[in-house]
Amino acid sequence: MLRSLSGRLLILTGIFVILAELLILVPSVARFREDYLTSRLERAQIASLAQLAGDMITEDLEQELLRNAGVYNVVLLRDEARQLVLSSPVPSEVVDTYDMREPSMARLIHEAVQALFTREDHVIRVIGNPVREAGLLIEVTMPAAPLRVAMVDYLRYMVLISTLFSVSTALLLFLAVRYLILRPMKRVIGLMRAYAEDPEDSRRIITPSASVSDLREAEEALRELETQLTGALRQKERLAQLGSAVAKISHDLRNILTSTQLFADRLEGSQDPTVKRLAPKVVNSVARAVNLCESTLAFGRAEEPAPRLCLVALADVVGDVIDGERLALGSESISFAEDIPATLRLRADPEQLYRVLGNLVRNARQAIEVTGTEGEIAVAAEESDSHWLIRVSDTGPGLPPKAQENLFTAFTGGARKGGSGLGLAIAAELVRGHGGTIELERTGASGTVFVIRLPKEIGLQPLAAQ
Ligand SMILES: Nc1ncnc2c1ncn2[C@@H]1O[C@H](COP(=O)(O)OP(=O)(O)OP(=O)(O)O)[C@@H](O)[C@H]1O
Ligand SMILES: [Mg+2]
Repeated sequence: MLRSLSGRLLILTGIFVILAELLILVPSVARFREDYLTSRLERAQIASLAQLAGDMITEDLEQELLRNAGVYNVVLLRDEARQLVLSSPVPSEVVDTYDMREPSMARLIHEAVQALFTREDHVIRVIGNPVREAGLLIEVTMPAAPLRVAMVDYLRYMVLISTLFSVSTALLLFLAVRYLILRPMKRVIGLMRAYAEDPEDSRRIITPSASVSDLREAEEALRELETQLTGALRQKERLAQLGSAVAKISHDLRNILTSTQLFADRLEGSQDPTVKRLAPKVVNSVARAVNLCESTLAFGRAEEPAPRLCLVALADVVGDVIDGERLALGSESISFAEDIPATLRLRADPEQLYRVLGNLVRNARQAIEVTGTEGEIAVAAEESDSHWLIRVSDTGPGLPPKAQENLFTAFTGGARKGGSGLGLAIAAELVRGHGGTIELERTGASGTVFVIRLPKEIGLQPLAAQ
């Protein structure tokens, strides 16, 4: 109970209400005493007026009047000269005198507290203004005990009322909290548990229904979170399925390509000069494809295998890539330019380098093709002490915003019809495998430039010297 929200609220409300009641109680007791004394003065004033009837007032009547007024003596000063007096025996000395003519609240409170602790037999004197301006001053002597009894009764009554009040307020608050906060919270907790059991089931995503706006906000945030999580889990599942599909495809594709390889080998023996010239390229391409299938199968996972580094003549690889792209050209006139020092040899995995450059040049070609105009694709390379730099540039239309926002991210950056959005992600991953970087140097209406930077050293080992 103490640990629950509603329990704590119940107790705190009780305490706060009691504190508030105390603040009201003290002045109201002081007010009660003031009223009590004023009414005594009024009664005594009425009793004293009986004197005006002259000598007709007997001793007995005087005593009775005083008893009814609840005082021992009364002196009413009518004006400077005349005064009315009723008196009966006073059992003891007057202990305190209270002036009720212009009391301040602080004095009233102080005197009220004092009055609560007076002794049974105390006699007090009270001075006040007569009502209806019937005189200058009225003074009575009276016992303190009845006042004390009345005050204690009043206090008891007030405490009872405030207790009832605070208990019922706290109870109502307790019920309200239960109904408005705890019940919806429990519902949310239940729904969260149900969701956690099977987060891939989108029917279990919470439907916000709380009427309290703060809770509603929490529910909406939760729904967003759950929707994202379910989406991510499904995407993961799809990727896993895709992974196994890729493995199966690679497997069969390799078998088909192996037979193609056998046919291509035969082509090399042909006498036709064109066939003779093209045959080695066909053989090479098919060998690359078989290689790719095999490494995919061998690793059977999404990551690319580690590069098998060797010294590669970059001009040859770029030549192969460009030859391939030329063959793929339709009627468009795209020119290819190479600016690579013939002697430049870099340390890389030739198959992977071919794929990286193949993806970049192919993207450039496809981008220019879409515009239906002429264009140029250039591959340039240079070498510094620490790096090899390969720059692939084109005069195409530039990357669409979607591709720029999701650059190098698999499946999300593709903005080309028929494209899978994998090419740049694969290129980036392969370059990273070489310890290098690939960057979009510039893109816009005048064309696009990608730069690949491959380090000459990995750690302390100079790659070029090996
Ligand atoms: N040189 C370029 N000029 C203009 N747009 C480009 C260029 N290179 C890439 N893009 C844009 O970037 C997108 C992503 O390219 P990416 O190679 O990753 O995927 P894709 O070409 O769509 O599909 P695929 O997986 O078949 O390569 C492309 O769809 C294309 O819109
Ligand atoms: Mg591509």
